[in-house]
Amino acid sequence: MDIKFNEKEKQFHLFNSKISYVIGICLDGEIGQLYFGKRINENQVVLDYQSAGLRPLCCNVKEEENYTKELALLEYPAFGNGDFRDPAYEILQANGSRVTNLIFSGYRIYDSKETIPGLPATYTNTDDEAKTLEIICRDEVAGIEATLYYTIWRDYPVVCRHTRIKNIGVEEFKIEKALSCNLDIPDINYELMHFEGAWGRERTPITRDVSHGIASVESMRGHSSANYNPFVIMKRKNTDEFKGEAMGFSLVYSGNFTVMTQADTFGKLRFNMGINPKWFSWPLAPQECFDTPEVIITYTQDGLNDLSQNLHKLMNNNLVRSCYKNKPRPILLNNWEATEMDFTEEKILKIAKKGKEAGVELFVLDDGWFGARNDDHAGLGDWVVNTDKLPEGITGLSKKINDMGLKFGLWIEPEMTNEDSDMYRAHPDWVLAAPNRKRTLGRHQMVLDYSKPEVVDNLYDQLYKVISTASIDYIKWDMNRSITECFSQNHDAKEQGTIYHKYILGVYSLYERLKAAFPNILFESCASGGARFDAGMLYYAPQAWTSDDTDGYERVKIQYGTSFGYPIASMGSHVSASPNLQTGRSMKIKDRANIAYFGTFGYELDLNEISEEDFAEVKEQIKFMKENRELFQYGTIYRLQSPFEHNIASWMVVSEDKKKAILTTYKKENVPNMGIEKVKLAGLNPDYQYTINSKAQMYGDYLMEAGISMSEKNKFWFESDGDHSSRIYVLEA
Ligand code: GLA
Repeated sequence: MDIKFNEKEKQFHLFNSKISYVIGICLDGEIGQLYFGKRINENQVVLDYQSAGLRPLCCNVKEEENYTKELALLEYPAFGNGDFRDPAYEILQANGSRVTNLIFSGYRIYDSKETIPGLPATYTNTDDEAKTLEIICRDEVAGIEATLYYTIWRDYPVVCRHTRIKNIGVEEFKIEKALSCNLDIPDINYELMHFEGAWGRERTPITRDVSHGIASVESMRGHSSANYNPFVIMKRKNTDEFKGEAMGFSLVYSGNFTVMTQADTFGKLRFNMGINPKWFSWPLAPQECFDTPEVIITYTQDGLNDLSQNLHKLMNNNLVRSCYKNKPRPILLNNWEATEMDFTEEKILKIAKKGKEAGVELFVLDDGWFGARNDDHAGLGDWVVNTDKLPEGITGLSKKINDMGLKFGLWIEPEMTNEDSDMYRAHPDWVLAAPNRKRTLGRHQMVLDYSKPEVVDNLYDQLYKVISTASIDYIKWDMNRSITECFSQNHDAKEQGTIYHKYILGVYSLYERLKAAFPNILFESCASGGARFDAGMLYYAPQAWTSDDTDGYERVKIQYGTSFGYPIASMGSHVSASPNLQTGRSMKIKDRANIAYFGTFGYELDLNEISEEDFAEVKEQIKFMKENRELFQYGTIYRLQSPFEHNIASWMVVSEDKKKAILTTYKKENVPNMGIEKVKLAGLNPDYQYTINSKAQMYGDYLMEAGISMSEKNKFWFESDGDHSSRIYVLEA
């Protein structure tokens, strides 16, 4: 890994063993994109770039110059100077002009990388893991300095980018758009893969052609959302899980975002990503700086599994910040689906006790323990224990749970308040609400104005009191509605365009403070399930509740989609009761567990209420998970068959030394008299002989090339496992 600057040709070449990223300085001094892809020789000068001849209707920098921005590939394109595609930034100057032009003025190259003030970002553990290039550009007329940051990683085919904008003039200006990255690509033969959904059905992979006009996904909900995710893939049409070219882009941010591809009519493609510029307007006074979030860009020629695996490794090693980083996650039991808010201490202790008997390690008390929280109309904002339900408080309950030999975890939703709460009665101006307008409620609650430091301080003080006076090992931080009427009361008009972003900065700052005060707590983020599952959150909370949908079959699809961009260890996944609360579907406890293993694993039901037979199975499941959780959570995942394309979905995890692997298959529907379906395995050592479920023995090459049969041998068809059945195969070399 290195970064070289060719002074004569004015080209920067960032490279490691797998990729090259080449940047040049265009004729007028703007920063150009020369190459991004498989590693090329770092001494190669990239030729024939940015020269396109004089063409009708194209505007040239100088009338006689053989250079027009319209045909250039650019790194951080401006508005108003001959490039008619969507710019990466827009700055409204005091005189009303939006025309800008950032010209190269210097650079720095150094080991490791710097943090981004107030924002989550990837980091190095040792300085030699990465190298950073800063390219400093200036627009002297508008008084803008922009620093483009590029970090190349030693161990991954990854470049991380973000941008800092500084006001170096004498007048305030307004940043109306400041994306994290722009990548101009020399051809348009790509597909955009993004991950869409809604509550209960998060992150379905969708593939779209991008060869004409604009394709875009975004969130304007104030959080990254269940609807679209700030992780996307640009892939070649023939790229599949095992071969072909693809680039992944993951925005390390949890608020409103945009992703856009723009094919122009000259056969070039612009890709950009960052904070959504809609209703964003950031006044920047002289000498002030604004930092965009970071975007992780990865490249592969070896298909989508390789792309995901590289991202997972980077996130596990260089994004997640927790004492649970790369550690097995505790098996938990959460009371939400068992009791909702209707519980007493006695009931909770009974549930926890049964969990302990089964082998659970952590008991989590969910919503309903505080204020007047007996249903979802009241209590949010009042983080004081409800002693009617818990007479000895969280202090007493956590001690009793600890005395059983269990860790104790607690649910909070610190970004919200209800009209029926002491907090709202005392501080009606602490909620986001537009003047003289009706507030739109969501789950009967309002969003607190985290752009106000006093609000964040208040929440910190309240939560500090609860956590520091009890024994708390885990926090589930929930967020159950999107932002509407995004207006900060008693704030200047000109500040209103900053609120969505300041809200997220406020959330990050509270995380930062709580993590500093309680470094041993394991945080799990949640937003009505997986509505804020993004790389920004993972920096603070190494795991996230993947979905409120705990139906075993639906979870196959949700966890499959999530695995494209996020590590297995980050996916909160529990076994819940059958019939399932969200879908009404009944599934065997074995099949519910077979999907939950591929994640943090836990239970979300009252184990006192299941049959003795199922309880015996739960004990076995927990034992099995304890024996294998490092492999489940940190093994290399190979997606083999998609639940969206096959009746039998399948994936597997493989240990680093390839001596152990776990394969799973999930059948959607039983087909009577089914033909023979085979699943081909991946990632094994072809020369190892593997014992499968302590029975059959097969070589790795046979398993990968011929595959194993999914037919239900030795069974009459009417004895089949039925719909939504699954299997687990443990392979040991
Ligand atoms: C959200 C979460 C659930 C649960 C409830 C509690 O819906 O996603 O897991 O915590 O809130 O109100």
